[in-house]
Amino acid sequence: MLIRYKKTYEKIAMGLLSFMPNEKNVKSLVNTIKDYETKDDNHLFLWKLDDIVGIIGIQILPDKVIMIKHLSVNPSFRNQGIATSLYDAIRSQYTDYTIVTTQEVASFIEHCHVSLKVL
Ligand SMILES: CC(C)(COP(=O)(O)OP(=O)(O)OC[C@H]1O[C@@H](n2cnc3c(N)ncnc32)[C@H](O)[C@@H]1OP(=O)(O)O)[C@@H](O)C(=O)NCCC(=O)NCCS
Repeated sequence: MLIRYKKTYEKIAMGLLSFMPNEKNVKSLVNTIKDYETKDDNHLFLWKLDDIVGIIGIQILPDKVIMIKHLSVNPSFRNQGIATSLYDAIRSQYTDYTIVTTQEVASFIEHCHVSLKVL
Protein backbone atom coordinates (compact mmCIF):
# COMPACT_ATOMS: atom_id res chain seq x y z
CA MET A 1 0.00 0.00 0.00
CA LEU A 2 1.26 3.47 -0.92
CA ILE A 3 1.43 5.86 2.05
CA ARG A 4 2.64 9.43 2.33
CA TYR A 5 5.87 10.21 4.14
CA LYS A 6 5.62 11.87 7.54
CA LYS A 7 8.30 12.88 10.00
CA THR A 8 7.86 9.75 12.16
CA TYR A 9 9.13 7.72 9.17
CA GLU A 10 12.32 9.78 8.87
CA LYS A 11 14.77 7.05 9.94
CA ILE A 12 13.31 4.31 7.79
CA ALA A 13 13.04 6.74 4.85
CA MET A 14 16.68 7.75 5.17
CA GLY A 15 17.71 4.11 5.38
CA LEU A 16 15.85 3.31 2.17
CA LEU A 17 17.13 6.40 0.35
CA SER A 18 20.70 5.48 1.30
CA PHE A 19 20.53 2.53 -1.13
CA MET A 20 20.43 5.00 -4.03
CA PRO A 21 23.82 5.33 -5.72
CA ASN A 22 23.73 9.13 -5.42
CA GLU A 23 22.81 9.13 -1.70
CA LYS A 24 25.85 7.48 -0.17
CA ASN A 25 26.98 10.67 1.52
CA VAL A 26 25.20 11.42 4.83
CA LYS A 27 25.20 15.17 4.26
CA SER A 28 23.47 14.79 0.91
CA LEU A 29 20.98 12.36 2.44
CA VAL A 30 20.08 14.86 5.19
CA ASN A 31 19.58 17.59 2.56
CA THR A 32 17.46 15.26 0.44
CA ILE A 33 15.08 14.38 3.26
CA LYS A 34 14.89 18.06 4.26
CA ASP A 35 13.86 18.96 0.69
CA TYR A 36 11.07 16.37 0.83
CA GLU A 37 9.92 17.71 4.20
CA THR A 38 9.99 21.39 3.32
CA LYS A 39 9.52 21.91 -0.41
CA ASP A 40 5.90 21.98 -1.56
CA ASP A 41 6.74 20.48 -4.96
CA ASN A 42 8.69 17.52 -3.50
CA HIS A 43 6.73 14.45 -2.38
CA LEU A 44 7.89 11.25 -0.78
CA PHE A 45 5.80 8.08 -0.60
CA LEU A 46 6.47 4.76 1.10
CA TRP A 47 5.39 1.21 0.33
CA LYS A 48 3.95 -0.53 3.38
CA LEU A 49 3.47 -4.26 3.79
CA ASP A 50 3.65 -5.25 7.49
CA ASP A 51 6.65 -2.92 7.59
CA ILE A 52 7.79 -0.14 5.31
CA VAL A 53 9.85 -1.75 2.56
CA GLY A 54 10.13 0.76 -0.30
CA ILE A 55 10.26 4.42 -1.15
CA ILE A 56 9.61 6.68 -4.12
CA GLY A 57 10.41 10.39 -4.29
CA ILE A 58 8.99 12.76 -6.87
CA GLN A 59 9.16 16.41 -7.80
CA ILE A 60 6.29 18.24 -9.48
CA LEU A 61 7.62 20.33 -12.34
CA PRO A 62 5.76 23.01 -14.35
CA ASP A 63 3.29 21.99 -17.07
CA LYS A 64 2.01 18.91 -15.22
CA VAL A 65 5.28 17.00 -15.30
CA ILE A 66 6.47 14.69 -12.53
CA MET A 67 10.08 13.71 -12.12
CA ILE A 68 10.87 10.50 -10.27
CA LYS A 69 14.00 11.32 -8.29
CA HIS A 70 14.30 8.39 -5.90
CA LEU A 71 13.17 4.77 -6.01
CA SER A 72 14.50 2.20 -3.59
CA VAL A 73 13.47 -1.08 -1.96
CA ASN A 74 14.77 -2.85 1.15
CA PRO A 75 17.22 -5.53 -0.15
CA SER A 76 15.30 -8.30 1.67
CA PHE A 77 12.19 -7.49 -0.36
CA ARG A 78 13.66 -7.00 -3.83
CA ASN A 79 12.53 -8.87 -6.96
CA GLN A 80 8.99 -9.14 -5.63
CA GLY A 81 7.58 -6.35 -7.77
CA ILE A 82 7.61 -3.65 -5.08
CA ALA A 83 9.43 -1.00 -7.13
CA THR A 84 7.07 -1.73 -10.02
CA SER A 85 4.09 -1.32 -7.65
CA LEU A 86 5.51 2.00 -6.38
CA TYR A 87 5.86 3.27 -9.94
CA ASP A 88 2.37 2.04 -10.91
CA ALA A 89 0.85 3.67 -7.79
CA ILE A 90 2.37 7.04 -8.71
CA ARG A 91 1.25 6.57 -12.30
CA SER A 92 -2.35 6.04 -11.21
CA GLN A 93 -2.27 8.81 -8.59
CA TYR A 94 -1.09 11.40 -11.14
CA THR A 95 -2.97 10.20 -14.22
CA ASP A 96 -2.91 13.45 -16.17
CA TYR A 97 0.81 14.13 -15.60
CA THR A 98 3.74 13.32 -17.85
CA ILE A 99 6.35 11.32 -15.93
CA VAL A 100 10.08 11.79 -16.42
CA THR A 101 13.01 10.40 -14.42
CA THR A 102 16.49 11.21 -13.33
CA GLN A 103 19.37 9.23 -14.85
CA GLU A 104 19.68 7.11 -11.65
CA VAL A 105 16.13 5.81 -11.91
CA ALA A 106 15.95 5.53 -15.71
CA SER A 107 17.49 2.07 -16.15
CA PHE A 108 15.00 0.43 -13.79
CA ILE A 109 12.03 2.15 -15.45
CA GLU A 110 13.29 1.07 -18.87
CA HIS A 111 13.62 -2.46 -17.56
CA CYS A 112 9.87 -2.29 -16.86
CA HIS A 113 9.44 -1.62 -20.61
CA VAL A 114 8.48 1.99 -20.02
CA SER A 115 10.46 4.61 -21.85
CA LEU A 116 10.45 7.99 -20.12
CA LYS A 117 12.30 11.21 -20.82
CA VAL A 118 15.40 11.56 -18.62
CA LEU A 119 16.06 15.00 -17.11
C1 LIG B 1 16.04 -0.83 -8.38
C2 LIG B 1 15.15 -1.34 -7.27
C3 LIG B 1 14.35 -0.19 -6.71
C4 LIG B 1 14.21 -2.43 -7.82
O1 LIG B 1 13.31 -2.82 -6.78
P1 LIG B 1 12.51 -4.20 -6.84
O2 LIG B 1 11.35 -4.08 -5.93
O3 LIG B 1 13.44 -5.32 -6.63
O4 LIG B 1 12.02 -4.19 -8.35
P2 LIG B 1 10.90 -5.13 -8.99
O5 LIG B 1 10.77 -6.38 -8.17
O6 LIG B 1 9.67 -4.33 -9.23
O7 LIG B 1 11.57 -5.45 -10.39
C5 LIG B 1 12.71 -6.29 -10.40
C6 LIG B 1 13.31 -6.29 -11.79
O8 LIG B 1 14.02 -5.06 -12.00
C7 LIG B 1 15.38 -5.34 -12.38
N1 LIG B 1 16.24 -4.26 -11.86
C8 LIG B 1 16.59 -4.06 -10.58
N2 LIG B 1 17.38 -2.98 -10.49
C9 LIG B 1 17.54 -2.48 -11.74
C10 LIG B 1 18.27 -1.38 -12.29
N3 LIG B 1 18.98 -0.54 -11.52
N4 LIG B 1 18.20 -1.20 -13.62
C11 LIG B 1 17.49 -2.03 -14.40
N5 LIG B 1 16.78 -3.08 -13.95
C12 LIG B 1 16.81 -3.32 -12.62
C13 LIG B 1 15.65 -6.70 -11.74
O9 LIG B 1 16.71 -7.34 -12.42
C14 LIG B 1 14.32 -7.42 -11.93
O10 LIG B 1 14.23 -7.89 -13.25
P3 LIG B 1 13.28 -9.15 -13.66
O11 LIG B 1 11.89 -8.85 -13.18
O12 LIG B 1 13.36 -9.16 -15.17
O13 LIG B 1 13.89 -10.34 -13.00
C15 LIG B 1 16.00 -2.02 -6.15
O14 LIG B 1 16.88 -2.94 -6.74
C16 LIG B 1 16.79 -1.02 -5.33
O15 LIG B 1 16.29 -0.49 -4.34
N6 LIG B 1 18.05 -0.74 -5.73
C17 LIG B 1 18.87 0.20 -4.98
C18 LIG B 1 18.39 1.59 -5.20
C19 LIG B 1 18.71 2.04 -6.60
O16 LIG B 1 19.76 1.74 -7.16
N7 LIG B 1 17.83 2.86 -7.15
C20 LIG B 1 18.09 3.42 -8.47
C21 LIG B 1 17.47 2.57 -9.54
S1 LIG B 1 15.70 2.70 -9.44
